[in-house]
Amino acid sequence: MLSEHSMASSMLSGTENLTLVRGITPKRFSFTGSDLNWKHFSNIGVVSHGTSFRARSKTLAPNCTLSSARPASQPRFIQHKKEAFWFYRFLSIVYDHVINPGHWTEDMRDEALEPADLSNRNMIVVDVGGGTGFTTLGIVKHVDAKNVTILDQSPHQLAKAKQKEPLKECKIVEGDAEDLPFPTDYADRYVSAGSIEYWPDPQRGIKEAYRVLKLGGKACLIGPVYPTFWLSRFFADVWMLFPKEEEYIEWFEKAGFKDVKLKRIGPKWYRGVRRHGLIMGCSVTGVKPASGDSPLQLGPKAEDVEQPVNPFVFLGRFLLGAMAATYFVLIPIYMWLKDQIVPKGRPI
Ligand SMILES: C[S@@+](CC[C@H](N)C(=O)[O-])C[C@H]1O[C@@H](n2cnc3c(N)ncnc32)[C@H](O)[C@@H]1O
Repeated sequence: MLSEHSMASSMLSGTENLTLVRGITPKRFSFTGSDLNWKHFSNIGVVSHGTSFRARSKTLAPNCTLSSARPASQPRFIQHKKEAFWFYRFLSIVYDHVINPGHWTEDMRDEALEPADLSNRNMIVVDVGGGTGFTTLGIVKHVDAKNVTILDQSPHQLAKAKQKEPLKECKIVEGDAEDLPFPTDYADRYVSAGSIEYWPDPQRGIKEAYRVLKLGGKACLIGPVYPTFWLSRFFADVWMLFPKEEEYIEWFEKAGFKDVKLKRIGPKWYRGVRRHGLIMGCSVTGVKPASGDSPLQLGPKAEDVEQPVNPFVFLGRFLLGAMAATYFVLIPIYMWLKDQIVPKGRPI
């Protein structure tokens, strides 16, 4: 088996953007355990977008079974709407200055949006969990701002978006990603960046993405990837949801999307290393093949935000979750230092 380290250096060095192209049923697509297990691939087209891979796209394929989603009972202290609300009550003050430079740079954003195929200025686009509008700034380079809606559950994040000049004409809406206030068959593009990790029921959010898109419309969901290094995995599980790549694909396919693709992204100074996970680690796209609602039937919402909570339990969860988040603020600094110290061309 290739270790994650050698996989990173042999496949992901330099610009590490890959696209996993699914042409198979979910049961034939998986990784074992929490590490990517490249030995098992047999049918996934890995299409490279980076400089080092442009010339040689590769088809690898899995023969293992789909790992089941991790149970909802895992701690993930901030993967709830109320906690996410309070988390962003404070984080929104420094979000653009602290979070984006380490995890979500303009380069990464533009590469992640490229598969969204924002090819026409008149497209109707919804940016779900749009927050301070950092990703929306990438969208309005290609689409007229008046056609773009930024939706978020945090009025504090949206207040920051409202202040941005290029977003002045965007519609700004407070709402829930799992219950979108848009009609069925409404948008040409659905974009969501770095928000799924807070959704208590990600499958429901992706089903909503399907519903609100027009026939032939495309969803582009950008999100974190699960770490493989044990300590990072521990803090990831304490903080919020870091899905595995195959979970994204499974959620998209279950919602009814076709032509599902996954492109890897990451800050340049990581040199393709993914063992600590990435808060913005992949861009997943899918096309809506038929008009109307998603064929997927789901029960009631997982989280009832109206239910009273014990304030001490809430505070305890919140503080533990925020502490785990701090670990991931330090990781990009650690990787940056390694990038400075280790000679170029050598794995870090
Ligand atoms: C990491 S920020 C990403 C913001 C923005 N998309 C960007 O690229 O910078 C995550 C955002 O998701 C929002 N969010 C979390 N849960 C949500 C939900 N259930 N519905 C809508 N927005 C949500 C948060 O309020 C926050 O603004």
